[in-house]
Amino acid sequence: MSTTKFLLDESRMPRHWYNIAADLPAPLPPPLHPGTLQPIGPADLAPLFPMELILQEVSAEREVPIPEPVREVFRLWRPSPLVRAHRLEKALGTPAKIYYKYEGVSPAGSHKPNTAVPQAWYNAQAGVKKLTTETGAGQWGSALAFAGALFGVDVKIFQVRISYDQKPYRRALMETYGATCIASPSEQTNAGRAVLAQRADHPGSLGIAISEAVEVAATNPDTNYALGSVLNHVLMHQTVIGQEALLQLEMAGDDPDVIVGCTGGGSNFAGIAFPFLGLQLRGGRKRRIVAVEPAACPSLTRGRYAYDFGDTGHLTPLVKMHTLGSTFTPPGFHAGGLRYHGMAPLVSHLTQLGLIEPTAYQQNECFAAGVLFARSEGIVPAPEANHAVKGAIVEALRCKAEGRGETILFNLCGHGHFDMSAYSNYHAGKLVDQPYDERELAMALAGLPSVPA
Ligand SMILES: Cc1ncc(COP(=O)(O)O)c(C=O)c1O
Repeated sequence: MSTTKFLLDESRMPRHWYNIAADLPAPLPPPLHPGTLQPIGPADLAPLFPMELILQEVSAEREVPIPEPVREVFRLWRPSPLVRAHRLEKALGTPAKIYYKYEGVSPAGSHKPNTAVPQAWYNAQAGVKKLTTETGAGQWGSALAFAGALFGVDVKIFQVRISYDQKPYRRALMETYGATCIASPSEQTNAGRAVLAQRADHPGSLGIAISEAVEVAATNPDTNYALGSVLNHVLMHQTVIGQEALLQLEMAGDDPDVIVGCTGGGSNFAGIAFPFLGLQLRGGRKRRIVAVEPAACPSLTRGRYAYDFGDTGHLTPLVKMHTLGSTFTPPGFHAGGLRYHGMAPLVSHLTQLGLIEPTAYQQNECFAAGVLFARSEGIVPAPEANHAVKGAIVEALRCKAEGRGETILFNLCGHGHFDMSAYSNYHAGKLVDQPYDERELAMALAGLPSVPA
């Protein structure tokens, strides 16, 4: 057996983020003001974000330097390992080589601290003392709570109700880092109260939790908002993953033919894929780039590419993305981080351009993939990450059927140590592959804002 782990020295940790906006073959449609339908400017975002992050959001620079204090924190867990999944390959009997980049080594257990740390740092630099945010899986909330603790920023987190109930220990982790965690929809905001008035036992959604967090930030001058995915700067922060993977695959003497990531809002997927896609856009080799989403919340495979609100309460700008409609409430499946009605505008745009292949799987087949992974590689993946594991296994089995020794790289974006009740339900045969409600989808799509082409 050849080498298993490919480890980079700390000195080789990336010094800049990669901004794919510099290499896009067609420009990204701009976010619009919902009232005027005109492109928004930095001033429109200033109540929510510090100017450094707003400038990153619209930057056209290919390389954006990572501040040294942020790199210092990253050294706690970065560079993360790249692992050759020898035992999974053997279990599948595939001639393919499978590599995974393991982001579960971060303190919060996923890729989310890669953006939580710079977001908290830029806010602290701007003198902001309080941040609000949403969390679906609890991973993003934990990550921002951790980052807030490091830079002296108070963090208030609206956790999607169903995830709040499914994962009490995620809340305990956020509280351990000093954050406050509230089940969403809540009585604390107009957006939350409006939803509860219609349905008192509403399971919540990321779209609703975003509305609550944005409302608190927009109505409190001392409070900013932080988003764990979707926005350009968040995706850019995650590109440390793919930049490291490029160097590690060079060490391994390999070059991926297929890159796989799971997509909720698109950030971990962009993190692993964009540095490789950037090489291709600058004239390099073409690779297949596969995005895996849940069949119960299939924004990329079933959504419409249209301007829509980023939240359910309609407090955000309009962004052009693949969307299921901002009022769509996905069924309560266990990959809470993937229960978002939209997709990052950059991932949507690149999908429209034919540069990304979207796929969707049900949760039971994803858990089966995660269990096979755990039994061969040892790591128990987060339910979200199981979608990437499933996607990689499908590719490896295709290679087996075709007798091709391709190289597959996937992002194992987090561990599932706080998700064991979901695994218990899976083992007990209690996980249901819920289809989404077609009528609700049709209604949510009918409610899309009308924006002249
Ligand atoms: C482990 C994990 N993976 C994936 C996601 C989905 O987010 P994104 O698509 O932005 O990576 C989440 C979101 O909470 C998550 O916690």
